[in-house]
Amino acid sequence: MSSLPTHYEYEVSAQAGHGQLATRNDVLAASASPALVNPCPDGIGAEALSIAVIGPNEKQRVSAVSALAGCAGNQVREFPAYPSGLDDVPRLLEQHYDVIFIDMDSDPEFALELVESVCADGSATVMAYSETLDRDMLIRCMRAGAREFLTPPFEREVMAEALVRAAARRPVTKNTKKAAGQLLAFMGAKGGAGVTTLATNFAVALAQESNQRTLLIDLDLPLGDAALNLGIVPEFSVVDALQADIRLDATFLSQLLIQHTSRLSVLAAPGRFVQFEAGSEAIDRLLNVARQEFDNVVVDLGARFDFSGSMLSKEATTIFLVTQAGIPELRNSNRLIAQFFSNGGPKLEIVLNRYESQAMGITEAHITKALTRPAQWKIPNDYPAVRKMQVNATPLALSNSPIARLIRQMAHAAAGKTGAAGKPQAQVKKKGFSLFK
Ligand SMILES: Nc1ncnc2c1ncn2[C@@H]1O[C@H](COP(=O)(O)OP(=O)(O)OP(=O)(O)O)[C@@H](O)[C@H]1O
Ligand SMILES: [Mg+2]
Repeated sequence: MSSLPTHYEYEVSAQAGHGQLATRNDVLAASASPALVNPCPDGIGAEALSIAVIGPNEKQRVSAVSALAGCAGNQVREFPAYPSGLDDVPRLLEQHYDVIFIDMDSDPEFALELVESVCADGSATVMAYSETLDRDMLIRCMRAGAREFLTPPFEREVMAEALVRAAARRPVTKNTKKAAGQLLAFMGAKGGAGVTTLATNFAVALAQESNQRTLLIDLDLPLGDAALNLGIVPEFSVVDALQADIRLDATFLSQLLIQHTSRLSVLAAPGRFVQFEAGSEAIDRLLNVARQEFDNVVVDLGARFDFSGSMLSKEATTIFLVTQAGIPELRNSNRLIAQFFSNGGPKLEIVLNRYESQAMGITEAHITKALTRPAQWKIPNDYPAVRKMQVNATPLALSNSPIARLIRQMAHAAAGKTGAAGKPQAQVKKKGFSLFK
C-alpha cells in the first residue's frame, strides 16, 4: 500500500453525468434507517455533505463517484489507495468528512481495520462497498461499525437514500445544536431505600404533568426492576444500548425504548440476569444521546453506583440521594455526601423516604446532623399504597395518595428548573388533579 494517497477534489455536480448510472444495486443498511427526510437526489438535506471515497479498485471507485454525481451539491474526494497504515487515519479524519466510502475488496482485512478505526472516532458515517456480497464480510463490517453496505454498480437513488440517512445521522454538533436535556439521577444510600419506587414515579409524574419528552433509564444493573414497577415488558435493555458503543445514536436508541401509557419512554434493565460491567465511557455516550433527544433523562442508579468517573459527576442537573431515617442509611448518607457532594460536586437533593416523625427515637436534629443539611423531601411511609402499585403495576404518581402528591411536587420543581424545556412555566400542560395548579 502506498502512503496516504494524493487525491484530487471532484466537484460532483459539475462532472459525471446522470446518464452513466448502473441499473442494479443492493444496499443493506447496517441499522434500521430513519425515515427519509428528502429522498430527492438533488437535495440531500439542507446542507451539503463532504464525502471521501477510498477505493484502490478504480472501476468500482469511479462507479461510486459517478453515482454520487446524481446527488448534486456534495463535495467528493477520491482516494485511489488506502492509507499506508492506521496511523494515517487521524489525518484523514482531520478533514471532517461526513461520509467515508471504503472499498472492501482490494485488501479486505486492512479495509476492515480501516472501517473500525474510522468508526471509532464516531464523526463520519462509514459506507462499505464490495463487489462480492459475502455474508461473513457484511457481518464483520457491521460489527466494525459500517452503517451501509453497498455493491457496485451503484444506483443513484440507492446512493441518494444512503446519503439522506447519513445526513440525518450527522453528529449533533454539525446540525443545529439544541440544548441538552436535564439529567436527574436517583441513587440510594443503601439497597432497598426506595430508589426505584421514587425514580419511576417521579419520571411518570414528570412525563405526565410537564408535557416534556421524558426518558427513564434503569442503570441499576444487573437486577433493575423499574419496568416491573411500571407493568411493562421490554424487548431490549440498557445493556443493548451500552454495548452498541459508537453505533449508538438517536435512531438506534429509539428502537430500544418502550413507551409507558403516561408517555414516559423507558430504557429498562435486562429481563434476565446479564453479567455486564458498564464503563463510564459507554454510560456517558448513552446519556449524551439520550439528552439530545429528551428534555428530561431520569436515571435509576440503584445503591451501588460510583458515578465519579461519569458525566453525572459534572453535568447532572440534580442527584437525588434516597435515604431513610435508620442508623445504617444515615451513616451511609453521611459518607456519600462527604465523598461526592462536599467540594462543589453535582447538585444534591436529599429524599428521606418512608419518613415517620420521631421514629425509633431519631429526631429531626439527629437526621439533619447526619445529613449535614436538611432533607429537601420527606416521603411518608405508606406500604399499602406502594404495595397496591406493585400488585397492579400502576404508578403511584397517578393516584391521589400523600406519597403521590409529594412525588408530583418533586417533578413540578424539576420541570420548573428549565421552564419545561425552554417553554415558559405558564405553558406547561396541566391535567387532572394536578398539584401544579
Ligand atoms: N414510601 C414508601 N412507603 C412504603 N414502602 C415503600 C416506600 N418506598 C419504597 N417502599 C418499599 O420498599 C421496598 C424497596 O423499594 P425499592 O425497590 O424502590 O428500593 P430500591 O432502593 O430501588 O431497592 P434496590 O436497592 O433493591 O434497587 C419495596 O418493597 C417498596 O415497596
Ligand atoms: Mg431498585
